[in-house]
Amino acid sequence: MIQFNRVTKRYSSMARPAVDGLSLDVREGETCVFVGPSGCGKTTTLKMINRIFEPTAGEIFVNGENVLTQDQDQLRQGIGYVIQKTGLFPHYTVFENVATVPRLLKWEEGRVAARVRELLELVGLDPDENMQKFPRELSGGQSQRVGVARAMAADPPVMLMDEPFGAVDPITRTQLQNEFLTLQQKVRKTICFVTHDIDEAIKMGDRIAIMNHGQLVQYDTPENLLLAPADDFVAEFIGSDRSLKVLSLLPVRKVLKRQFRMVSETAELSTVRASFDASERNRLVVEDERGNLVGYVSRSDMDKAGSARGWNRFIKPFPAFLPPEATLRDALAVMLQHDIGAVPVMEGRRRFMGMIYLDDIRSYVGEAYQERDSDSSTQEGA
Ligand SMILES: Nc1ncnc2c1ncn2[C@@H]1O[C@H](COP(=O)(O)OP(=O)(O)OP(=O)(O)O)[C@@H](O)[C@H]1O
Ligand SMILES: [Mg+2]
Repeated sequence: MIQFNRVTKRYSSMARPAVDGLSLDVREGETCVFVGPSGCGKTTTLKMINRIFEPTAGEIFVNGENVLTQDQDQLRQGIGYVIQKTGLFPHYTVFENVATVPRLLKWEEGRVAARVRELLELVGLDPDENMQKFPRELSGGQSQRVGVARAMAADPPVMLMDEPFGAVDPITRTQLQNEFLTLQQKVRKTICFVTHDIDEAIKMGDRIAIMNHGQLVQYDTPENLLLAPADDFVAEFIGSDRSLKVLSLLPVRKVLKRQFRMVSETAELSTVRASFDASERNRLVVEDERGNLVGYVSRSDMDKAGSARGWNRFIKPFPAFLPPEATLRDALAVMLQHDIGAVPVMEGRRRFMGMIYLDDIRSYVGEAYQERDSDSSTQEGA
């Protein structure tokens, strides 16, 4: 969908090129994240796609056509652009900001108004409350939402987003990222997304382009990047907590155990003890008659429990739960925080889906690296 063919950009004031021989393809419907240190050429790369700058050498194709031979207005109408630091027009209201492109396209006013409403709702802003505000009356997170809405106004197939969530606190940022991922699943745009935050890149990208001094160092899926960094620069950029980041690639719903030994809260003590005898674990999950989660009991407490029924009082509630879309990294954090070796996964507040155990996390990391090592050794052998 977007192709770079040995693209170089040299600003006259600079000795070395800002972008240096860049070649890569961004596939339709994918999010490509450009990441790298400040000044490595990320913004310059984006601005050549919608022709704010022209390459000094090389070619860029959007939809199979060289951007330099396309009509500039038409090209830009097909490309939504979220500018670094949002770049809202300060003297325009939120409504007017979002309406910019549709009005340029001479949409009839009723259609413009309906579209602005729809978009504000889509990015999580109440239209009635916010439409007439000016950018200075918005919080950082709200401005970023308006920036995204404005870029999407004419429903362009391609979006360029330059640090769209850069200027907000970590909590708002996580929220914006999650909303954006949900939105992208629906709209499936081809997106070039710039950030200098590797965690954001791993979370948002189908593919990640790591740049340094204007050059592309590695272009790969988040998984490959984490498991097989191309060189020391990439390894260092990713950080020493590489294996922890691998955990953030996998949602718990993909590894949770649905089948495991449970005991019923109405069981006799002898049955509970027999369950422990048949299990290697020191804790067992307790369910009620309808299969709802009640809590857990520990082996040592069952050894203490005297009477046949009284064992119930030893049932303890789980201190934490995870939603199915939480990652293994979230699971590990919760386990460390509460000093527990297992966490239940709940859909909504009620539906018990299964358990995540510390062993599962450990073996996932071990296997991921082992597979990778044996892959590369067979490649070397061949
Ligand atoms: N309009 C310009 N004129 C001259 N030099 C420029 C211009 N824009 C950027 N540069 C230079 O080109 C290099 C790459 O800049 P660019 O803005 O693409 O970096 P970036 O990766 O987006 O950085 P950041 O993370 O800080 O936004 C820098 O050395 C910068 O000083
Ligand atoms: Mg930049």
